[in-house]
Amino acid sequence: MGSLSESSSSLQDAKANGLAANSTKQKKKQLILNAFAMNTPGHLSPGLWRHPRNKTNNYKRLEFWTDLAQLLDKAGFHALFLADVLGCYDVYKGPGNTGPALRAGAQFPVNDPLYLVPAMAAVTKNLVFGITASTTYEQPYSLARRFSTVDHLSSGRVAWNIVTSYLDSAARNFGLSQQVEHDARYELADEYMEVLYKLWEASWRDDAVVEDRETGVYAVPERVRPINHKGTHFDVPGPHICEPSPQRTPFLFQAGTSKTGRQFGAKHAEVIFAGGQLPEKLRPSVDAIRQLAKEAGRDPYHVKVVASMCVIVAETDEAAKAKYQELLSYGDRDGALALFGGWTGLDLSTYSDDEDFRFVKLPMVQSIVNGWADTVPGSENLKWNKARIADYLSVGGMNAKIVGSPTTVADELERWVEIADVDGFNLSHVTNPGSFEDIIEFLLPELRKRGIFRQGVDKEGATAREQFFGTPRLLSDHPGSKYRWRKEDDIPKYQQH
Ligand SMILES: Cc1cc2nc3c(=O)[nH]c(=O)nc-3n(C[C@H](O)[C@H](O)[C@H](O)COP(=O)(O)O)c2cc1C
Repeated sequence: MGSLSESSSSLQDAKANGLAANSTKQKKKQLILNAFAMNTPGHLSPGLWRHPRNKTNNYKRLEFWTDLAQLLDKAGFHALFLADVLGCYDVYKGPGNTGPALRAGAQFPVNDPLYLVPAMAAVTKNLVFGITASTTYEQPYSLARRFSTVDHLSSGRVAWNIVTSYLDSAARNFGLSQQVEHDARYELADEYMEVLYKLWEASWRDDAVVEDRETGVYAVPERVRPINHKGTHFDVPGPHICEPSPQRTPFLFQAGTSKTGRQFGAKHAEVIFAGGQLPEKLRPSVDAIRQLAKEAGRDPYHVKVVASMCVIVAETDEAAKAKYQELLSYGDRDGALALFGGWTGLDLSTYSDDEDFRFVKLPMVQSIVNGWADTVPGSENLKWNKARIADYLSVGGMNAKIVGSPTTVADELERWVEIADVDGFNLSHVTNPGSFEDIIEFLLPELRKRGIFRQGVDKEGATAREQFFGTPRLLSDHPGSKYRWRKEDDIPKYQQH
């Protein structure tokens, strides 16, 4: 395994590194493929809810989610990753104007994603459920309980996408006049994680629950202890109110891109979602994540990096291009600009219809729009005005897009893996289940033919972490693992009754 694994000593890490070795050296890297969705009519393609192949208006019906989960599970997807926000996109034509997002169903209305997991777990065997929840607006004690509950009910197939949130509208609804400052959100999140590791890993010894019918003892009292956390932001005595779930700490996803966001992810995350328009431009971020993981004492390949991607695939390149145009005709421009307003804080309605945003004196917008222009052929002759921005966003949001035949798309994905050193893709949808049905019908057979996507699972019913790293528990180089209270560890004196 070379130098990457030298710091790893335990059996579980050796196993995890064995998986990495398989994927990088003995055979081609096996792609991680996640489906990306949200509990709302319009996730990243505003207006598309009314497309005939889109059923997202049924997002409030359980069958919509159980059908989707079964479709993905059967096809071999690794995870269904569900985004979430706690406020509405009210910057465009605002401030405080919820109209454009509401009319288009653009991430508003949006239901809580965690409730979907037990139902989807009941009808699937292997699919992992990545659920977004924020560290900014909920106490760690209750979040620990919600995730432990679902980790139990899904037999360890839940992952938590850790976010610090980005909408002012959410902050206002949680009693703040505006958001907690960006870096302060991450500082709080770091202590939040410490509280959670203590609750999930340190509060119940591995052998605390005995369920002994003879003696009538369910759990041995001295094997369950308070955590007595007293920090800057949180004061949590514990103990954790749930008994240990299969993974204890749910599998950890994260998607921060700022300097502090990356540092946080490199320390805590097991899978990081990275966005970028070109693999060449994404590579430095991936290298930085791996370097930061190393500095945090982790094997850099114990953080899987997954790129966001919108794939439109059909039998031929021409058919895919026609499909793209047909999808675009359903786009809702105001809904798209409402999303853009929420993501960037900028209200584009204050600019004229002619303004070319490649040259506007707003560095963030210039860089985003130039990033898109780099990938759209003939951009030199196009005006990147509001309408073009809205059209770009209407089909798959800010994500990079690949439109083409199975071979075109597979070639491009392989190029991304090669150049950006990513481990897989987070595939957004334009229609749901339409986009996933197309990927299953056209793309997966091509990826399998090339030997870069799994034919089946290694072990039926494995936990999320087992599927990615070969073990249900945190790897020994993960910061949360030092809190583990193992069966062979001592019971503290104060615990001995
Ligand atoms: C694929 C992907 C999915 C994301 N999903 C969510 C989400 O569901 N909810 C959320 O509040 N933020 C989400 N984000 C935003 C990130 O968590 C993060 O706030 C954003 O990338 C800005 O990072 P930074 O604060 O480190 O700059 C997502 C980002 C990416 C790339």
